[in-house]
Amino acid sequence: MTSIKNQFKFIICGTDTDIGKTLISALFVRGLNSFYWKPIQSGIGSETDSQAVKRLAKVEQGKIINEAYIFREPVSPHWAAEKDQKIINFQQLNLPNVDGSLIVETAGGLMVPITRNYLQIEQIKKWGIPVILICKSGLGTLNHTLLSVEALKKRNINILGLVINGKKHLDNPKTLTEFSNLPIIAEFPYIQEIDSNNLDIIWRELNIKNKLISLLKSKENK
Ligand SMILES: Nc1ncnc2c1ncn2[C@@H]1O[C@H](COP(=O)(O)OP(=O)(O)OP(=O)(O)O)[C@@H](O)[C@H]1O
Ligand SMILES: [Mg+2]
Repeated sequence: MTSIKNQFKFIICGTDTDIGKTLISALFVRGLNSFYWKPIQSGIGSETDSQAVKRLAKVEQGKIINEAYIFREPVSPHWAAEKDQKIINFQQLNLPNVDGSLIVETAGGLMVPITRNYLQIEQIKKWGIPVILICKSGLGTLNHTLLSVEALKKRNINILGLVINGKKHLDNPKTLTEFSNLPIIAEFPYIQEIDSNNLDIIWRELNIKNKLISLLKSKENK
């Protein structure tokens, strides 16, 4: 489990695909000098999520744990596996045992099927480590985020808080906190130039490590 002193283990999940999970994973991996694991990568494109995190977080290769599955097509894992004529073995999805912090990035959103009868959210429940939900800042986020939170809560999944990604919105953070009753870990700004230097500046400015420690402490005291 997560120890507040020096080991942080989180699942980075999003309200949708393309919501900023990889970028924010890179922020956390760099800030916490943690291991990173993308268990299922669908689609290779110009770079995989693991390669993007390695490039942005600039951690040693040993911190990037090999994917359990890499499928060729950028579609939902259940279909991507079928297209590649592969069968997902759930044993391969068990959390890796690492000596240090760990960031796990899910494939897409919570209700993405991993197989024809198994959803990502069921695997998240099995993993049993806290979830950080990445959501977008702008229009559409209230519906997507509150639905995602409801699905997590219904399954008693431990949610550490939200990271709101994108151009600052005047009302959504307040509305999301009020309806979800969840803390906002960070409002991650839209950035023109994404590099490790800017990630360091944002990590410090948003004081994320202290925020994580105090949120974990307050959960322990409940
Ligand atoms: N705050 C931001 N500022 C600038 N660009 C951003 C920001 N957030 C995300 N992006 C860009 O949007 C794209 C999608 O982000 P990212 O790859 O992190 O999403 P994802 O949720 O990991 O997607 P997937 O579901 O494919 O894993 C990337 O090109 C990323 O650099
Ligand atoms: Mg990603």
